[in-house]
Amino acid sequence: MLLGIIGGSGIYDLEGLKSAGETFAETPFGKPSAGYKTGDIDGREILFLPRHGADHSIAPHKINYRANIWGFKSLGVQKIIAVGAVGGISGNLKPGDIVILDQLIDFTFGARQSTFFEDNKVAHIDFTEPYCSEMRSLMISTAAKTGVEVKNSGTYICVNGPRLETAKEIQYFSSIGADVVGMTGMPEAALAREAEICLCGIAVVTNYAAGISNQKLTVTEVIDTMKRSNDKIKRLIKEFALQFSDERLCTCKDALKNAVM
Ligand code: HPA
Repeated sequence: MLLGIIGGSGIYDLEGLKSAGETFAETPFGKPSAGYKTGDIDGREILFLPRHGADHSIAPHKINYRANIWGFKSLGVQKIIAVGAVGGISGNLKPGDIVILDQLIDFTFGARQSTFFEDNKVAHIDFTEPYCSEMRSLMISTAAKTGVEVKNSGTYICVNGPRLETAKEIQYFSSIGADVVGMTGMPEAALAREAEICLCGIAVVTNYAAGISNQKLTVTEVIDTMKRSNDKIKRLIKEFALQFSDERLCTCKDALKNAVM
């Protein structure tokens, strides 16, 4: 059994999870952000990839999302937990909160390489539910079991960055239904679906989004809050790894059926 983990800002390794080594993937799309760290949780194998590179040198708009996801696929991963830092937009969210995402709005369209199908073939994957419903359910029950408090749903709006948003942009995002804002959720989730990989998106609220509080946003705040949440995220991942199986009852595994022209 093999579980892929993508770590975001502030999470660069498996910290505390037994790490065995590192494996590298070559892809037709270039190099992934880093080597995939291999680890083990009670016999369940884990492959961990720091999205921004081992030393956080890759900006959100420069990440090779295609290589990262293709790399996981080529190493045999069928299920991925993707963790990312976000700004909280909804009134009920505060720094430190954890959201098991269920919806996405993409504001990076056109700015990033967002499909594996470019030449000859065209794919239109169904993306009505952008995150794997089966993984979401298991993550929600895992959270209840471990006592880690999570929000069971939330809509992620993905911006290109790397700058943070204006207060008016956040007001607008709120008006169209976004709960949290981040810079890396897309095209990662769509590429996972094209690769027929199940993906569970976990957002860690690291700050109030622009204009939600009257404090200036700082990167230090983002990293510090993420580090403080690390323990809870690790507990969730560990328990999830113990619970999950290779069986897939969701539709992610057949995403390309009737989707390629
Ligand atoms: N905006 C966009 N991306 C983010 C934020 C934010 O406020 N916080 C963490 N990632």
